[in-house]
Amino acid sequence: MTQTVAGAKKLFIKTYGCQMNVYDSQRMAEAMGAEGYVLTEDQSEADMVLLNTCHIREKAAEKLYSDLGRLKPLKAERPDLKIGVAGCVAQAEGEEIQRRMPIVDLVVGPQAYHRLPAMVKKGRGVDTEFPAEDKFEHLPKSPATRRAPAAFLTVQEGCDKFCAFCVVPYTRGAEVSRPVSRILAEATDLVSRGVREITLLGQNVNGWHGLGTDGAEWGFGRLIRLLAEVDGLDRIRYTTSHPNDMADDLIEAHRHEPKLMPYLHLPVQSGSDRILKAMNRKHTAEQYLRLIDRIKDARPDILLTSDFIVGFPGETDADHQATLDLVARVNFGTAFSFKYSPRPGTPAYDRPEVESAVADARLQELQALLSKQQKAAQESMVGRELSVLFEKPGRLPGQMVGKSDYLHAVFVEAPQAKVGDLVRVRITHSAPNSLAGELIG
Ligand code: SAH
Ligand code: SF4
Ligand code: F3S
Repeated sequence: MTQTVAGAKKLFIKTYGCQMNVYDSQRMAEAMGAEGYVLTEDQSEADMVLLNTCHIREKAAEKLYSDLGRLKPLKAERPDLKIGVAGCVAQAEGEEIQRRMPIVDLVVGPQAYHRLPAMVKKGRGVDTEFPAEDKFEHLPKSPATRRAPAAFLTVQEGCDKFCAFCVVPYTRGAEVSRPVSRILAEATDLVSRGVREITLLGQNVNGWHGLGTDGAEWGFGRLIRLLAEVDGLDRIRYTTSHPNDMADDLIEAHRHEPKLMPYLHLPVQSGSDRILKAMNRKHTAEQYLRLIDRIKDARPDILLTSDFIVGFPGETDADHQATLDLVARVNFGTAFSFKYSPRPGTPAYDRPEVESAVADARLQELQALLSKQQKAAQESMVGRELSVLFEKPGRLPGQMVGKSDYLHAVFVEAPQAKVGDLVRVRITHSAPNSLAGELIG
């Protein structure tokens, strides 16, 4: 959102990586808003550029350095331009970033964002601590502006699972769950500002276990049931989940709670037990498949999505085939698949790698199967009546676009409608990346 306030300083934020970074960027924008900064979408007019980074794969991290390279001329032209690096690369590389790129004024790790305004005042610095205080409680409260109808809300952060390939436990730190009272307050505040759909976020969101309103520790299913009671909140989603944290009460929430959308992102990474073990995922392919059966029993129409890594050290053709077999059995609505990227500091870093060309070929084969499933899942929506939450005007006059229950983008001719309307739509057509439908009634 761009606002113009005469004399205000302008902040440009670029966000890489996962939804938690998107949420954090928004919170940092609000914190800097309290210091008189307004957001701009034009980097060239910014007084401060903040890059909120991702360290998950090598390519993701390298993007930071190429973007910083492109900022050099701007900084040479305007030496008072402040450049900040936040997020997971900031955490992982700390001072190294300033050594490599002296144009960087500030480096701030994901758990130290509440200290960002003070750092900006100081001018130059690095803060990659994991402070004892909770950043969420210390980030300045946002002004009561209108919000888009679908919002993120981080309820859990960090990870204690230590999958052998993953940097998250090191960049985000230990698992922390926010208490129910704070989550409920933030959810009701969002709803009062026009939000009708909330996606609860966490690196292991379904592992959330927080202090309840009764002083007892609650599980994630119970949190969802409480949020479903919030008037004006019509849709609840959550991401990302770990298979081992799919507790019974969460599965039951999918059976009984109509506001909980029939969509579940449940990364499995591989279909081979040998590789799952080497990855330290702590479950087998069969256990995953049985879990999927239980979830489908609770909510037969649920759309399942997942993440896969191909070419993990030690992966053979047979292991790869086991992944393809698992995909064929589950039938995913969509999925993300990545070529393994060795990350410094993780247990798998030094293990002998699968030949790059072999991994590329496996990735292609897996992606071909996944996109076939994605296409079929989307086409199966044609003829169905779904709910759509309008998020913005479409490309054509009188057209709106929003998300269905299953998170597909749907274009609808609706000249009377406005952003934030939740409508019933009959799906008429499936295009490569979206659906089209018509209003019912
Ligand atoms: N917490 C989530 C995943 C967070 S990272 C979970 O447990 O599923 C998002 C995805 O990036 C992972 O699911 C994995 O598929 C991928 N990923 C993580 N580390 C990777 C690496 N070193 N190389 C390739 N892909 C990786
Ligand atoms: Fe990474 Fe595994 Fe934790 Fe997910 S569960 S964030 S993949 S260590
Ligand atoms: Fe990337 Fe950090 Fe998210 S490494 S995926 S931005 S938790």
